[in-house]
Amino acid sequence: MKKVIFVTNNPNKLREVRQMTNGIDLVSLADCGITEDIPETSETIEGNSLQKAHYVYDRLSTDCFADDTGLEVEALGGEPGVRSARYAGESKCSEDNITLLLEKLEGCDNRRARFRTVIALIWEGREHLFEGIVEGTITRERHGDGGFGYDAVFMPDGYDITFAQMDAASKNAISHRGRAIAKLVDFLGKN
Ligand code: IMP
Repeated sequence: MKKVIFVTNNPNKLREVRQMTNGIDLVSLADCGITEDIPETSETIEGNSLQKAHYVYDRLSTDCFADDTGLEVEALGGEPGVRSARYAGESKCSEDNITLLLEKLEGCDNRRARFRTVIALIWEGREHLFEGIVEGTITRERHGDGGFGYDAVFMPDGYDITFAQMDAASKNAISHRGRAIAKLVDFLGKN
């Protein structure tokens, strides 16, 4: 079975990706003995995912991948983007992030936004990037209590509910991360 390290400390992400990667031995950071926080200091989503993947590859020389996601809001010139987790401060508080986002969009009719995930895979020493995007709008108020992050204010195109009102399987089927992972899984199945 192919062995690949998923560079994440987030057990929810690990579970989600394991459900989509049958036939691949997906190894966590904890399994590899890496417990420190991995630096994410790039100014781009691509740069952060590559930085995280290289951090592990440089130490273990094992095939690995990392993901990075941002919410890109059109009326805010692509903000919060690479700063999505820390938009309202270093505490990475989702409630505060949503409050700040809604404040910035107050009175703004252009609510267009998208989530964008980039997965950086280092496979046999070479870099491969896989992108997943879901387009939608930012609602004027919070709706739903599922999910995490900005889910309560993100309504994907073609739906009249937010990600926070969807069950996990429905969200994964159309989400940015789900789409990027599907491309990764396709690659791993062929290589
Ligand atoms: P990460 O790169 O996956 O850690 O994502 C960075 C930030 O983007 C998270 O802290 C969340 O605020 C936000 N985010 C990422 N994915 C999602 C999602 O599926 N729903 C809502 N917010 C998300």
